[in-house]
Amino acid sequence: MADGENDLILDVKNLEVKFYHDQGVVSAVNGVDFNIGEGQSIGFVGESACGKTVTASTVLRILPPSGDIINGTINFRDTSGQIKDLAQYDSDSSELRKIRGNDIAMIFQEPMTAFSPVHTLYNQISEAILLHQDLPQKEVRARVINLLDQVGIPEPEERVDDYSFEFSGGMRQRAMIAMALACEPRILIADEPTTALDVTIQAQVLKLIKDMQQDYGLSLHLITHDLGVIAHMVDYVYIMYLGRIVEKGPIQEVFLDPKHPYTRDLLGSIPSIKGVEGKIASIQGSVPDAYHMPPGCSFHPRCRDVVGDKCSSAVPQSVEIEPEHYTSCYKYTDRGVKENVKHVR
Ligand SMILES: Nc1ncnc2c1ncn2[C@@H]1O[C@H](COP(=O)(O)OP(=O)(O)O)[C@@H](O)[C@H]1O
Ligand SMILES: [Mg+2]
Repeated sequence: MADGENDLILDVKNLEVKFYHDQGVVSAVNGVDFNIGEGQSIGFVGESACGKTVTASTVLRILPPSGDIINGTINFRDTSGQIKDLAQYDSDSSELRKIRGNDIAMIFQEPMTAFSPVHTLYNQISEAILLHQDLPQKEVRARVINLLDQVGIPEPEERVDDYSFEFSGGMRQRAMIAMALACEPRILIADEPTTALDVTIQAQVLKLIKDMQQDYGLSLHLITHDLGVIAHMVDYVYIMYLGRIVEKGPIQEVFLDPKHPYTRDLLGSIPSIKGVEGKIASIQGSVPDAYHMPPGCSFHPRCRDVVGDKCSSAVPQSVEIEPEHYTSCYKYTDRGVKENVKHVR
């Protein structure tokens, strides 16, 4: 979390998103607060289907038509210092088109879907540049080649005219990062950027994202289901479960002293962090079906640490356990640990 409200480049409050289908309503995001400071790195972690991608897609307003923002504000501070609530604009308004790519760029797990198979990399990356900047062709070409070079694509002068399917998975991911950086965005949203890659390439791509973040002074919003990936990448982590943030805090703090039973279970399933050899503890049960959110704390049906009936009847408030470290669990509001609790909100 940034020190002061003034440093925030993005400030999302009470975000609620639902999908409406014939089969029913999916409550994908249920009152999420998060923010990103200028140049800061935050991470969203949680099992699959917990709402990480929907939250990020809502910021960029690229939800499918069945999805709707029910509540909340998405305050983005532009370069002139003006605050714009992205939730208020029409998703295909010129304001949002300008912000997408130009101010906030997103990269995905599967770069194959980000590139068109019928256009060369040059065509696509140059198009991204020309959408936002009026530059002579020659300069655009030099810029695209330079970007490919920066992200570590060998012989960029030749490869620039290749199609994305001529690239390996790792190289394609690098090309997608080059495309995302083409307009020098201020926020990079990286949604499972390395999940489809093998471990060695994964480490290279993560390092590249970190280097680019430093070179470009980017703010990073990293999404992953893998706590191991997030450990070295972000300053502040949000643990998400069924559309809610159950714990958030400085990365070291949350890793060394996780509070929420869900975070503890997630961390328990990473042997290298716990130092448990070979044994991967899995979280009991599975993420419930999206059409049927459990009442109360949505983790209670899987929780090893249920405190009482209230776990299944009302959503626990978020309490600050240590500076900047919050969790939503009745263990911390009820069990005489109040002296450790700075304030409830
Ligand atoms: N187009 C959609 N229609 C209905 N439900 C959706 C749609 N997209 C996502 N969801 C649901 O929203 C929830 C959150 O999904 P998502 O954000 O993709 O999870 P994550 O990225 O954490 O794996 C899931 O229950 C998912 O099934
Ligand atoms: Mg996702």
